[in-house]
Amino acid sequence: MITAGPTREHLDSVRFLSNESTGTMGLSCASEAYRRGHSVKLVCGPGVKMLSPFFKKETASFFPAVTAREMLALLQRHWRWADALIMAAAVSDFRPHRRVIGKISKEKRETMTLTLVRNPDVLKILSRRKKNRCLVGFSLETRKGLNRSYKKLQEKKLDLIVCNWLRKESLPFGSRKTTVVIMDSEWNCQWLKNTLKTKVAKALVDKIEQICYQKKMEGGEL
Ligand code: CTP
Repeated sequence: MITAGPTREHLDSVRFLSNESTGTMGLSCASEAYRRGHSVKLVCGPGVKMLSPFFKKETASFFPAVTAREMLALLQRHWRWADALIMAAAVSDFRPHRRVIGKISKEKRETMTLTLVRNPDVLKILSRRKKNRCLVGFSLETRKGLNRSYKKLQEKKLDLIVCNWLRKESLPFGSRKTTVVIMDSEWNCQWLKNTLKTKVAKALVDKIEQICYQKKMEGGEL
């Protein structure tokens, strides 16, 4: 299973909070896994452009989700059949505490205060029933270093975390290339500098295949 793109959290019927994710990384992983003969289920946030012919042909494997909670519900329904989950979606950490039906009016308001509540952490919840599955997360850091990403890997019981950084000169959103570190639970790191996302996807699927093979050899039940 693979997730891609942003989630949206609505304030009212026409306005929402979201982020810059375009889904390129998740789609690259899906194409690569499919090309190798894996059965792929793709959960996609809104606005992700399905450019590859694979996605037109394989519509049965495609599940659209808008909010973080919808994404969680879809994954909970389908992930029990999966050997691995690549959680490339940029899930909103917060949502407005209520969604207004219709449109919030600006009349008689000079300022407006929004109250946000925490969204469920999809990976953390799924990791409680991880069993022998391979779980992969992504992290976007603003400071140098890998400690924060490693903490996420531990907290969410991940097998791998793909770290990238927010830099003025290189925003990771929508571009064909990115700089990442693929890190495992033993701090082994593979650096991929200014690399095509399609190549990052290849490296990631290679690692996931190795991990799944190892888990099967060790005889664990999925
Ligand atoms: N994630 C999730 N559910 C959330 C938020 C994030 O499953 N509510 C997943 C993301 O898809 C990602 C991983 O958790 O694979 C790490 O995301 P997060 O903990 O939010 O880290 P960052 O994106 O790096 O952002 P920050 O630490 O600033 O929150």
